[in-house]
Amino acid sequence: MKVVAFVGSPRKGGNTDTLIEQVLAGAADADHETEKVYLADYVLTPIDPVYGEEANWTDPRQDVADQLIDKMVAADAVVLGTPVYWFSVSGLLKLFIDRWSLYQRGDERLRDLTPGKKLVVVVAMADSDTSYLEAVLAPLRWAAKWLKMQWVGEVVATGVSDPGEVEQHPDLLADARALGQSL
Ligand SMILES: Cc1cc2nc3c(=O)[nH]c(=O)nc-3n(C[C@H](O)[C@H](O)[C@H](O)COP(=O)(O)O)c2cc1C
Repeated sequence: MKVVAFVGSPRKGGNTDTLIEQVLAGAADADHETEKVYLADYVLTPIDPVYGEEANWTDPRQDVADQLIDKMVAADAVVLGTPVYWFSVSGLLKLFIDRWSLYQRGDERLRDLTPGKKLVVVVAMADSDTSYLEAVLAPLRWAAKWLKMQWVGEVVATGVSDPGEVEQHPDLLADARALGQSL
């Protein structure tokens, strides 16, 4: 099985990255092939949709989003990781998710190939108050439902701020690894 993880934090070695590393280590324990992609390494521009009769929803730019979506389509399981930014997912991750639309309408690669694809979500946040956590996860849950992906589970690190702080939470690292092993 192929597992691809998209790191939606600009901080390499940060909390999101560290947790994703554990999910992928778990997936490797289960003999899956893994790949980690830093979205920050790609210049993702906002979606530029064309509406109306003339719309073909194919992105004429054929830019890096195409390469990233190819990776997603080729994977059996996808890991999406994000820090909470302003009570939401990071802009980096959202730019990527928005770009799924063109492909979904344009050549249907995502719509045809995502059913049954597994999804793991990783979230890191400084707050210990989780009252808005569901609001952060909700768009991802809806996106998974829309794409008929199977939501395997999420790992959420709360109260982590500095990069690498999540390493002080061995229980969370173990949860992340177990989730990867369950793929
Ligand atoms: C622009 C920005 C906005 C943030 N907004 C929130 C927030 O709304 N809630 C929260 O709990 N943490 C917030 N944080 C803190 C990060 O979520 C936290 O530091 C997280 O551990 C960063 O993960 P990373 O190390 O993977 O980048 C914010 C951080 C930044 C830089």
